[in-house]
Amino acid sequence: MYQDCRGLDITAASEDAVKAFDKLIISYLSINASAGPNLKATLDLDPEMPLANAMKCYFFMLMATGPLQDRAQKAAAEARTLGESATPRERMHIDAAEHWANGRKRAAIATWEAILVENPLDVLALRLAHHGHFYEGDGQNLRDTVTRRLFAWTPDTPGYGYVKGMQAFGHEETHDYDTALKAGVEAVECIPENPWAIHAVAHVHEMRDDPESGIDWIKKNESGWTTANNFRYHVWWHRMLMHLDRGEYEEVLRLYDEDLWDPESDEYLDLVNDAAVLLRLELHGQGVGDRWLALAEKCKGHTHDQSLAFIDVHHAISLSAAGKGDEKELLDAMKAYAESHGDDNARVTDAIGLPVARAMVAYKAGAFDAVVETLLPIRYHLFKLGGSHAQRDLFNMVLIDSTLKSGRINVAKMLVSERLSRLPNNAWTRAKAEAAGLAA
Ligand SMILES: [Fe+2]
Repeated sequence: MYQDCRGLDITAASEDAVKAFDKLIISYLSINASAGPNLKATLDLDPEMPLANAMKCYFFMLMATGPLQDRAQKAAAEARTLGESATPRERMHIDAAEHWANGRKRAAIATWEAILVENPLDVLALRLAHHGHFYEGDGQNLRDTVTRRLFAWTPDTPGYGYVKGMQAFGHEETHDYDTALKAGVEAVECIPENPWAIHAVAHVHEMRDDPESGIDWIKKNESGWTTANNFRYHVWWHRMLMHLDRGEYEEVLRLYDEDLWDPESDEYLDLVNDAAVLLRLELHGQGVGDRWLALAEKCKGHTHDQSLAFIDVHHAISLSAAGKGDEKELLDAMKAYAESHGDDNARVTDAIGLPVARAMVAYKAGAFDAVVETLLPIRYHLFKLGGSHAQRDLFNMVLIDSTLKSGRINVAKMLVSERLSRLPNNAWTRAKAEAAGLAA
């Protein structure tokens, strides 16, 4: 029996295959584009390594697009055939892969959590649990799946800096910004090429409405996140939010065209980033030209994915903003999926995804009463979509704008008052306060 670089037993054909797997895990944790090739290299060395086969399924699922789910199911089934030679921990990874690929995301998360009880150094299970809780909108577990393992980790444990990065993001999403900042800075000191940690600190500055510090941080650490795969676009997106906060609209459009928009990319997070920044520009009163058209063209290809409600609601924005009527097919697909599937995402789609998608379509159609009537009752449940506070803030902005545009001034006053309490100096919030007749 071999051990990985953290001393965990691993079933493998050779020491070289174990080393290749360790390298694969590092590239996964550093969100590097080499992760895919590193998986292939590992499987070339040991086609029957149980963990590498589970990883294949995980990678397909991480891509969160419809057609890849079939390949994920196939990969999980293949991994299952290797289970007999596997350790209990490895068999649990195969279980988790199978759960996730078959729509049982919560069972997958529970399995990763169970692995971590016995194996707190299983950084793969940890990163996947962190990811799972994120898209469940479960901030406390996003944080504590990390913090309850820290007893086992020391600065000398390989990958410690990645774990601190996850810890930082967990504290940020539970509004403990001082602790988040401390963990995030330590993470980056420990491992400079650490996009998740750099991103976590960017979130802190966004939530504190401190665009100066945020832009400085992102610029200062550029060499630590521009090496990332498409996730680097998400860091550009954070920088763009900060320029938006400063009213630097020309810069946002420039960054959109030069750094965010990737004509070749069809990855879900890129489509989400693009939609979220274009709609924010419009909420700031800026025109975005014909950029929606190219974006919607990509989203159209994902009409029937229903991988995550969080993604679908962003596609609803882009398709309706393009003005070609393609959003109807998406809403119908979401409805049919929610009615015919019993999986975890179908339940979220039914309860939150569909209402939010309909509200986004209504917003683009100028049906502001409908937006308010749909979003107001569910606004405290939007976290169930998953994603971050910064990402979901878009829906709150749409709601506030719609209260004003539908003349519901008393509701606007309430919502703006809430937002002012959190963001007293935010320019957009202050502009809305003025529009609602509040003394900001
Ligand atoms: Fe983010």
